[in-house]
Amino acid sequence: MDLSRRQLMFGIGGLAAGTALAGMAGQAIAASEKMTRFAQAGGDFGWKPHKLDPKECAAVAYEGYWHKGYACGYGSFYSIVGLLAEKYGAPYNQFPFTMLEANKGGISDWGTICGALYGAAAAYALFWGRDERTPMVNELYRWYEKTKLPIYQPGDAAQGVKGELPQSASQSVLCHISVSKWCFANKIEATSKKRNERCGRLTADVAAKAVEIYNAKIDQGKNFKGTFAKQEAVETCGACHQTKGNEANWAKGVMDCTPCHNGSDALTNKFEGHP
Ligand code: HEC
Ligand code: HEC
Repeated sequence: MDLSRRQLMFGIGGLAAGTALAGMAGQAIAASEKMTRFAQAGGDFGWKPHKLDPKECAAVAYEGYWHKGYACGYGSFYSIVGLLAEKYGAPYNQFPFTMLEANKGGISDWGTICGALYGAAAAYALFWGRDERTPMVNELYRWYEKTKLPIYQPGDAAQGVKGELPQSASQSVLCHISVSKWCFANKIEATSKKRNERCGRLTADVAAKAVEIYNAKIDQGKNFKGTFAKQEAVETCGACHQTKGNEANWAKGVMDCTPCHNGSDALTNKFEGHP
């Protein structure tokens, strides 16, 4: 780890940071006097994106995952915004990266959204508002549902276990489903080093894909559409459960319905008691 990454990840800013902090406190007092609600310094979604190398991001994401103790969200977010901070300084280096550490294990080990996916979506939101960001998130999340992970191979830099790991597609963006299916299929305990290693590598995979999308967005601007098409189940089930005016319009979300609602039976609408 080079000195600048060490400083950013460990927060050892020394004299320079001390001085900057004292300066910031002064600014904060001045700002509070004329502060307008919801006004953001630099403007909403106002940071400038610079292209990054997906390979470098993957390696940094993997390192960040271990650095903060299995923190997938921290790793994926740092691999974008932290790398920008290392390369370009302000404003990227003003971000309190530990904020993303809360996303570990699907947020404080609750197993909700995969933290690596959240980290990427949050990073996108520093640069693009909702209409422009949603196609990027769709592209990344659908890729995650379908792709056999992990792919990343740290080689001798492996921090948990070395060697090959089994791969599987979770069909879900949720930490719980992604981890549990992989562990069950391969008879690997969820609390094992092997599972930690799997999530570290998966964090690297998500970071690489996230940055590929981010680079494409920089190139294509408002023309970025991605390749996302609604999953077969979301399309089929959504015809009733997500269509305005339908008596059964109750279902929120774009997640594939099938891992939770009875797989193939659900797809053909043949589960018991269903019209
Ligand atoms: C043709 C319209 C239609 C389609 C398509 C449809 N549903 Fe439904 N679904 C309904 C209606 C109407 C009900 C309410 C039934 C009732 O009140 O007994 C329902 C009920 C349900 C329920 C709650 C009751 C139960 O039986 O468990 C679930 C869960 C559900 N649907 C999931 C799905 C999923 C998943 C799909 C896609 C695989 C799907 N539905 C496709 C109309 C539809
Ligand atoms: C992560 C798992 C998961 C996913 C993905 C998911 N659901 Fe559900 N869904 C649930 C659970 C759990 C409930 C609550 C079931 C209950 O209380 O009986 C529910 C409730 C529902 C209900 C209300 C009926 C009821 O039984 O409460 C409908 C309709 C429904 N889901 C449709 C869908 C559709 C359509 C999709 C895909 C667009 C989808 N769900 C995706 C887990 C999921």
